[in-house]
Amino acid sequence: MPHITVKPFNTASIKKEKYNATEVLFLAKDSFSEDELIGVVHKSEEFLLHIKKNEESWLLKYDKVTRPLKVNIVKQAITDLSKGLKLEELQSNVAIHPTKVVASSQYEKNIEDFVNIEYPFDSVSIEVGFGSGKHLLYQAEKNPNRLFIGIEIHTPSAMQVLKQIELKGLSNIWVVNYDARLLLEMIPSNLCHQIFVHFPVPWDKKPQRRVISPSFLEESMRVLKKDGRLELRTDSYNYFWYSLNTFLGDGVSKTSVEVRKNEALEVTSKYEARWLKQEKDIYDVYVSSLEESEPRVLDFDFSFKDIVYKKEILDKISYKPKLFKGFFIHFERLFKIADEAILIKLAFGSFDRPEHKYIYLDKTKAYYFHANPVKTVTNYKTHLKIMEYLNV
Ligand SMILES: C[S@@+](CC[C@H](N)C(=O)[O-])C[C@H]1O[C@@H](n2cnc3c(N)ncnc32)[C@H](O)[C@@H]1O
Repeated sequence: MPHITVKPFNTASIKKEKYNATEVLFLAKDSFSEDELIGVVHKSEEFLLHIKKNEESWLLKYDKVTRPLKVNIVKQAITDLSKGLKLEELQSNVAIHPTKVVASSQYEKNIEDFVNIEYPFDSVSIEVGFGSGKHLLYQAEKNPNRLFIGIEIHTPSAMQVLKQIELKGLSNIWVVNYDARLLLEMIPSNLCHQIFVHFPVPWDKKPQRRVISPSFLEESMRVLKKDGRLELRTDSYNYFWYSLNTFLGDGVSKTSVEVRKNEALEVTSKYEARWLKQEKDIYDVYVSSLEESEPRVLDFDFSFKDIVYKKEILDKISYKPKLFKGFFIHFERLFKIADEAILIKLAFGSFDRPEHKYIYLDKTKAYYFHANPVKTVTNYKTHLKIMEYLNV
């Protein structure tokens, strides 16, 4: 991921001004370490750059939470600051290779787009964690009158498949580089035909990271049309049993479940090919939705109303995770911006689909930097609780 190593410099020289195509919005100092964050805007995208300090050299790098999808935007911003501030570079990986520049694609969608998106096809399928995209591309080529929404958390895989879409001239795929567990909540009820989850990471040691969970099942059944199907395919015997138990769990109703073993599909993904070579067993579990679901209304307000920065906030927030029924809030770090503004880094929301965000507060306003949380019921409940902490 993009970074440069530079000789230590005086960060007071960073001004709120434009450095080539990158505008600096603020400089924020970590209250608990020497680290600093630079709020920037480049090509209308707001994000943060992180200065990590060691004695001899400093790292100027991307910030995981606010990182834009296109890596070249971060590279360009780092280059603009480095040149504009005349930093002494010791090492760099931010060279932009012209052949690697990917033009922005109309088939790439952001999570925010889903608030008011128009679905151009009547029939829609979703693939969660498409990896190399072999199955997704195959399905889209075979069914030109159906929209395929591919959701992949790994950015290079998402970018590769966007390239393939252009090369193959397909117009019925949307690629979303996001956590599928959150994105699903933005999809209208009764929309989809199929949801494919092929070879999800089993996460045996960190089960909270698994894609399949009771809430994912509930959302999938809501998003599926009546008789639509969630299709899990896995080589992991543990994950197969874990999923089957989830699908047959208490409180799950109006679904039917079907299990298959070693069923051949028309297309073999790169990942599956590896297991087939090793003669591993492959399990399929199909869960069909047997009823229509209530519509999903996405009109949650994530503004902070009249909350603004007051110094009492600093005393009120504590950094221990706070647990509530069905959600949590963990204020992780506090960054000070001049005397009367702060940036709070926090994790919050449901336990299996946490959000990571920053909240910017100054004397006149407060907002989530750089985008609001996903519009889910749990995030909204959590937001109301966060407001209670900040309302001093
Ligand atoms: C083992 S690979 C399988 C890829 C592909 N389905 C195949 O069969 O070759 C699992 C994929 O799921 C993606 N993934 C894991 N968790 C995810 C999540 N919460 N949302 C979206 N994608 C996820 C990973 O980045 C990875 O590409």
